[in-house]
Amino acid sequence: MSLHGRNVILGVSGSIAAYKVVQVARDLTQAGARVDVLMTEGATRFITPLTFQTLTRRPVITDLWQDWSEDAQGHISLGEEAEVMLIAPASAQTIARLALGLADDMVSLTALATYTPLVIAPAMNYHMWEHPATREHIHTLESRGATILSPGRGTLASGAVGEGRLAKPVEILGAVRWRLGRGGRLAGTRIVVTAGGTREPIDPVRYLSNGSSGRMGYALAQAAIDEGADVTLISANVDLPPPWGADGVPVTTAAQMLDATSRACERADALVMAAAVSDYTPASPSGQKLKKTGGGLALDLAETADVVASITRPGLLKVGFAAETEHLRENARAKLERKGLDLIVANDANATIGAPDAALTLIRADGSVEELGRRPKEQAAEMVIAALTGLMNRKDT
Ligand code: CTP
Repeated sequence: MSLHGRNVILGVSGSIAAYKVVQVARDLTQAGARVDVLMTEGATRFITPLTFQTLTRRPVITDLWQDWSEDAQGHISLGEEAEVMLIAPASAQTIARLALGLADDMVSLTALATYTPLVIAPAMNYHMWEHPATREHIHTLESRGATILSPGRGTLASGAVGEGRLAKPVEILGAVRWRLGRGGRLAGTRIVVTAGGTREPIDPVRYLSNGSSGRMGYALAQAAIDEGADVTLISANVDLPPPWGADGVPVTTAAQMLDATSRACERADALVMAAAVSDYTPASPSGQKLKKTGGGLALDLAETADVVASITRPGLLKVGFAAETEHLRENARAKLERKGLDLIVANDANATIGAPDAALTLIRADGSVEELGRRPKEQAAEMVIAALTGLMNRKDT
């Protein structure tokens, strides 16, 4: 992920969860973003400005009147430069201030003085979260376009169990990333991404499957979100946190994958078919657990439908994958033609499945070939999405 040249304001308010936001400030800075931290007086009781200052390598503003005489507009102009203002943790008090348009601390003042989109991650006692006043304020902020990261349920700082716990740092980061992507080159498009490996039941406790982790598909979904696309992510048996902002559709079998993908593609601009779909499924799975026979066991397998080949909606761009163990380019090109694809991403199956990196070759329907070289799957995914973006732009012109 690169956030070079991106400007984020982080408003921290008074909640014990402030310490968790240190991680978010660090991750955003490491990704290249400029992070300007503003803290309410309450926030400084829980954590020092020096912590954020050290991690972001930027001055932290805590006082409305700080440097006022020298640079009266300075702090307000922060809001004009920022592309997103993250408020985390957002206490009940800060949420009320934002909803009412008060401006009596740096966080609320900056939010009021700008049209920068807000991402708000509340954290508070669960009675406060459930209080009708807070509910109304949240509703108001949502109706004005703020993104609210609903607090999770769990043990709160008080020891009580309830809703009010700050969203996880990885989710907060995901929401900021989603917000930053909104104006990207794929804004206004819907992309369906499939990921993982299907499972075909043999009996109630056994199945046929493959070693796909879903990592490539999830990285593709994230890369498309980073470019502003609305993403439907159809996942078969993936044990990873989905990218923030993706509409997740879990499936298990090849038949379910076909059904879910066909439906999602009815209103999509592109399909990125990264899932490893089983080619065969047990013809008549046993309703009961199979018992040992004392000899061998023959399974009668039926061929599954080819998902990407069978979806033929005009105007839908199709990207397929070809994991090959030999004759990479020839096999991939034949698949591209057979399945009516616009782009096929070929890779060496021996080296890619389960590995953190991939050496991909892109082959387009016009015959052009591009070697991407070995790189982390996240980076390779960004390059595949860039190639797809190029094809989508070409289609539009
Ligand atoms: N695919 C699909 N439906 C299937 C099998 C594969 O949509 N039933 C898609 C995969 O998601 C991938 C592309 O087709 O994008 C190529 O998959 P691959 O398994 O390499 O090709 P197969 O057609 O299964 O050919 P083979 O297994 O013979 O190499």
